[in-house]
Amino acid sequence: MLPWLTDPGTLPIYLAPMAGVTDMTFRTLCKELGADVMVTEFVSAEGIVRQDDRTRRYTEFSDAQRPVGVQLFGADGKAMGEAAKKIIAWKEPDFIDINFGCPVKKVVARNGGSSLLRDCPLLEKVAREIVRGVAGQVPVTAKIRIGWDLESINAPRVCGLLEDAGIEAVAIHGRTRSMGYSGEAHWEVIGNCAEAVGIPVIGNGDIASGQDVERRFRETAVRGVMIGRAAMTNPWIFREAKHYLETGRQLDPVGYDERWAFMRRHCAMAIASGRYGSELNTMRAMRSRLMSYSKGMVGGRCLRPKLSLVESLTELEDVAAAYLVEQAGQNTEPASSEGETQGENVSTARREAAVFSAC
Ligand SMILES: Cc1cc2nc3c(=O)[nH]c(=O)nc-3n(C[C@H](O)[C@H](O)[C@H](O)COP(=O)(O)O)c2cc1C
Repeated sequence: MLPWLTDPGTLPIYLAPMAGVTDMTFRTLCKELGADVMVTEFVSAEGIVRQDDRTRRYTEFSDAQRPVGVQLFGADGKAMGEAAKKIIAWKEPDFIDINFGCPVKKVVARNGGSSLLRDCPLLEKVAREIVRGVAGQVPVTAKIRIGWDLESINAPRVCGLLEDAGIEAVAIHGRTRSMGYSGEAHWEVIGNCAEAVGIPVIGNGDIASGQDVERRFRETAVRGVMIGRAAMTNPWIFREAKHYLETGRQLDPVGYDERWAFMRRHCAMAIASGRYGSELNTMRAMRSRLMSYSKGMVGGRCLRPKLSLVESLTELEDVAAAYLVEQAGQNTEPASSEGETQGENVSTARREAAVFSAC
């Protein structure tokens, strides 16, 4: 039972699982911005069975994020079923998702992720064992790529096998394993799968705007779409897509004030979450995320070297203040009653702004 996929009138937009990106904090932010369904970063079934604390931490989610699926990878269906049961007893996710799409060598070498696309009987066996292990407590879904390589595209067959095995929905990234993230997603294959099977198909790959979302729903029989990398640069894409689906019009791009406030909040929440340790370690972990947010910003090229060095929230605030002063044409005067501290901040910001101008 996946009501968000089966109820007429619902066209859910998923946040794609992205290891190292879609942690608890980022999922919270995307949910606020309109993402309907989320999946945790993938975790190894073995790690769960071993009760490895770090692995378990990756499966954390809050009730506000529901519906949420926990994604598992592995090649031993029985162990994966056991891991799924542990997670269900512990967190009661809305569904368990199996990763049959990961192209990473470490995962493929252990016969997990996309390697199972080369071995359909094993893939089906793994899926069946997990479904049996979960025993109807929650639905089991799967995420696949369209095949191992362009010569062996087999997503329609794989979807059929998964349906027979009791999998209740399939998310399809429209690339083969050997494509990695290059080339374009083959949405015609995703569309064929959606026509071929009775279970809902969620389409994934290269969705970057509300128009893309609308087009994929219009042109294919997918029941949901899933957005990954575009959300790393533009998490507002969920809000924009919803607006576009409702009105056929695009929202204005997000202003710089809102963008910086979001960046600051993301960092502050990440620090508070403790996932990355100290403030310094968290800010180091956040640098690549901040650089993603700066893509498309005027002066982003000059901004990125600064963001790649930030060590604290205060430093980020200084960079933001300097940037906003620069964007406002250096017209900002502090309110006189605010006193010295703000005055000092603004003059630091002005000095920084001069650097942006020179860049
Ligand atoms: C940094 C990164 C990490 C990813 N981690 C996972 C993962 O843990 N599980 C998974 O099924 N897919 C993972 N993916 C694949 C995405 O879920 C998605 O299928 C892919 O990025 C294509 O969608 P997009 O074009 O919207 O980005 C990851 C992708 C990226 C870029």
